[in-house]
Amino acid sequence: MMPVNVLITGSNGFIGRHMVDRLQKREDVRIATFTRGDDLESLETKVKEADVIFHLAGVNRPQNEAEFEEVNAGLTEYMAALLLKHRRAPTVVMSSSIQAESQNAYGRSKKQAEEAMLAFALESGANVCVYRLPNVFGKWCKPNYNSVVATYCHNIARGLDITISDPEKGLTLVYIDDVIDHFIDRMDTLGKPMSHPYYSLDRTFQIKLGELADKIYRIRDIRKSHILPDLSEPLMKCLYTTYLSYLNKQDFAYRLEMKTDHRGSLAEVIKSNQFGQIFISKSHKGVVRGNHYHHTKVEKFCVIQGEAIIRFRHVHDGEVLNYQVSGERIEVVDIPPGYTHSIENVSDGELTVLFWANEIFDPQAPDTYYLEV
Ligand SMILES: NC(=O)c1ccc[n+]([C@@H]2O[C@H](COP(=O)([O-])OP(=O)(O)OC[C@H]3O[C@@H](n4cnc5c(N)ncnc54)[C@H](OP(=O)(O)O)[C@@H]3O)[C@@H](O)[C@H]2O)c1
Repeated sequence: MMPVNVLITGSNGFIGRHMVDRLQKREDVRIATFTRGDDLESLETKVKEADVIFHLAGVNRPQNEAEFEEVNAGLTEYMAALLLKHRRAPTVVMSSSIQAESQNAYGRSKKQAEEAMLAFALESGANVCVYRLPNVFGKWCKPNYNSVVATYCHNIARGLDITISDPEKGLTLVYIDDVIDHFIDRMDTLGKPMSHPYYSLDRTFQIKLGELADKIYRIRDIRKSHILPDLSEPLMKCLYTTYLSYLNKQDFAYRLEMKTDHRGSLAEVIKSNQFGQIFISKSHKGVVRGNHYHHTKVEKFCVIQGEAIIRFRHVHDGEVLNYQVSGERIEVVDIPPGYTHSIENVSDGELTVLFWANEIFDPQAPDTYYLEV
């Protein structure tokens, strides 16, 4: 099968980098790129060869407003003229903006770019797909430029102030992976006539500026509270991953508080109102932990270093069950409710155990009852 020749303009930009990265993984695609500083003659050659053009070059915050017209409109008009000159009709996917209908220099230049490409489509019969994008967010977007999410994540991760111009201001956001998925879908339906030139994404997020800031502060605070937000909420999932991409390179690791006593130590790793909590314990030689049971709380024990005996006794029964476990063969032991249980370090050195409980420990309602096995 012949590879699809794809030209990506603006390939060093936020959306462009993602597109290059995704398409590089495909063996059926040959990529050409065009970015600022590349000479226009090379653009002519690349345009002539392209089966698909992702037109992502643009300026959003130029030093000089004239650049809107020069780049957003001018470069697009130039490309359309080249395509007509060489009688080429590739599929063109272009990233316009919801501001294309706004009466500002950026909006007007985007509208002009759309018009140039739509006129080309009419004349050549090519498929042109125009996406009027709202605010795109995700990793690799420059902070303090055109994305409030990037700026907030970058600043909050560094303890810098953020500006919330109006907490009630509504925003429409789209996530970068959704944008790329959609754009690539247009490429993969190559040759099929498009019914209309305007496309929008299936998934958009509406949020107020103040709420956005609150969510990002909550994400920052996970390192202290250990409480993960509900990651089944799609916006939170996308914001969380975006936030982490803005961490300072020296700041990926954080220490956990170790609660230490005569038995050893214990540290809470991560908690969630959805899945409970994960914690880790270290126990000295001979130490026995537990000797309690739960009514509703359930746990899993997983020894990761050392050897232990986990003992169980049904609270209405005299029979004691012994489970010999070792870090040499990682296995998980379920702790059913209504069984009093203990774990004894029978190794020569320290015992390290990873625990999961289905609920966050609540000292006011621990659901834990002392009873010797
Ligand atoms: N991100 C959003 O939220 C969003 C929303 C709506 C629409 N859009 C549109 O989507 C496109 C991509 O946005 P983005 O967020 O990826 O922006 P970006 O990060 O600024 O990327 C645009 C890229 O185009 C390059 N470029 C500028 N002038 C050029 C020229 N004359 N020839 C070739 N390349 C040139 C830029 O180079 P420099 O870095 O050197 O300037 C940059 O690498 C833009 O057209 C933008 O208007 C973006």
